[in-house]
Amino acid sequence: MKRILSGMQPTNNLHLGNYLGALQNWVKLQDEPEASCLYMVADLHAITLPQEPDALRKATREIAAAYIAGGLDPDKSTIFVQSSVPGHSELMWLLSTFAQMGKLERMTQFKDKAGKNAERAGLGLFAYPVLMAADILIYKATHVPVGDDQKQHLELARDVAATFNTKYAQEHFLLPEPYIMGEATRIMSLKDGTKKMSKSDESDLSRINMTDDADTIARKIKKAQTDPENLPETVAALAGRPGALNLVTIYAALAGCDRANVLAQYAGMGWGAFKPALADLAVAKLSPITARMNELLGDVAEIDRILKAGSEVAGALAERTVQETRDIMGFWKM
Ligand code: AMP
Ligand code: TRP
Repeated sequence: MKRILSGMQPTNNLHLGNYLGALQNWVKLQDEPEASCLYMVADLHAITLPQEPDALRKATREIAAAYIAGGLDPDKSTIFVQSSVPGHSELMWLLSTFAQMGKLERMTQFKDKAGKNAERAGLGLFAYPVLMAADILIYKATHVPVGDDQKQHLELARDVAATFNTKYAQEHFLLPEPYIMGEATRIMSLKDGTKKMSKSDESDLSRINMTDDADTIARKIKKAQTDPENLPETVAALAGRPGALNLVTIYAALAGCDRANVLAQYAGMGWGAFKPALADLAVAKLSPITARMNELLGDVAEIDRILKAGSEVAGALAERTVQETRDIMGFWKM
């Protein structure tokens, strides 16, 4: 039996990287017969950077709507809000005593997000991977489907789990496996093929948002970075051509095929032919999702109903692990 757990932060809108690197894979996993899937809105992680209360509330529902519009089915997957399950925060505290400062200091995401002023970064931003370990270990998740950028956090979760198990000489926590699937584990900025596509990039032209309309998508792809050469015959020949590689990767991920298949079809053609084809594919794939998302957001009560039901299911599972953990560690019981 596989237990799958993943989440995204409700900060701004989802972009194509989130969809292809994560959500699209989550949808595939919910149809595996031996898998039980939990997908959360990671609002406790969102507050590691400043958030306005109304914006956070709105973004939480928007992410939930994007999950469902993107294909997560509340009858197959448990969809819930991280902060509505108090066990995440409690387990995080318990685990924080097993997480080494030195290892947290090495986290590249912390270094990126804290920037030059690490002295002023909040404790929450530093401890972010410990909360993520709690999210995963609390459900005894076996597999965690994420994009490539989360791999280091998964290693920390495994490390914390192993340290705990060794200390108490029992196999209490499962060591989770990262599940980094498909061709789109790292979608790059449309403006710079060496930088990750990200919600926080100042330039909106760098990313395709899940809420962009057809014209915007086409315009962004048209302006995307490429080079003067045509599409090559082999994937190897894309080395050293980051913008070109990125567009071929996006095409492959949207079409659900390999990069080699894309090149078999387009080798020798120029960007003037490839870009419109990519734009059409992106619009065909994304516009039904955007439409469904907007429809769902017109019925907030329904979203809230789904999140409440999911949070109850997750809460019951989480509570069991927290109780077991408290017992193992020797806490007094009422
Ligand atoms: P975040 O937006 O940081 O909450 O990320 C949500 C999920 O999307 C995580 O699993 C990330 O690894 C994944 N993700 C974010 N950006 C990208 C990207 N540019 N390419 C592929 N996956 C991504
Ligand atoms: N840190 C993840 C991201 O930014 C989101 C996240 C929080 C997560 N908790 C998680 C992902 C647990 C997987 C498992 O993408």
